[in-house]
Amino acid sequence: MKCLNDFLFVLLLIFPSLTVAGPLHAQCRLEWNFGISCNNVYVALVTQIKLWTSKDNCKQGGERCLYELESANEHYIVAKHTNLIHQYVDNLTFKLVPFEEISCQVRAFSVSEPWYIMMDNGINYCNLHNLVEGSGLDAVPGYSESTNDFKCTQYSSANCTIY
Ligand SMILES: *[C@@H]1O[C@H](CO)[C@@H](O)[C@H](O)[C@H]1NC(C)=O
Ligand SMILES: *[C@@H]1O[C@H](CO)[C@@H](O)[C@H](O)[C@H]1NC(C)=O
Repeated sequence: MKCLNDFLFVLLLIFPSLTVAGPLHAQCRLEWNFGISCNNVYVALVTQIKLWTSKDNCKQGGERCLYELESANEHYIVAKHTNLIHQYVDNLTFKLVPFEEISCQVRAFSVSEPWYIMMDNGINYCNLHNLVEGSGLDAVPGYSESTNDFKCTQYSSANCTIY
């Protein structure tokens, strides 16, 4: 038993990141609420993804470019975001659920394609949040966002100005 404890202790010395709370594979799961219809949310998200396909949009820095729409309908949107600096791809999905006629709840998920990416500086969070900010959806009535460091890699230290 002591031997095992020593072993775990040494492991934590070598890999301090093992103690960091969060999913092992870099990803972000979050929920948004909007006090507008899912159709309006759908149009806003898809429009923003299409506006940010070109690399030119990142000339002033940041990662608000290289989005790609894969498929979309009023209930489900699938997209990709290629990281400009690190070149790998993140998969994005958005599930839109109408709520009491005039509201929409969205369950969004972003996951890094390469298996070895564990720490992402909050990039998966920014992949999702930047779309809501860019489209102005974060200013609609009834907007709220909900996630935490367990569901969303490095959420609390994310700086979406950079990523
Ligand atoms: C990302 O999406 C592609 C298809 O577009 C799929 O083949 C791959 O398994 C997905 N990766 C993850 C980590 O979900
Ligand atoms: C985020 O990064 C930008 C650009 O480097 C910097 O100006 C800003 O202060 C940072 N914000 C936080 C909260 O660290």
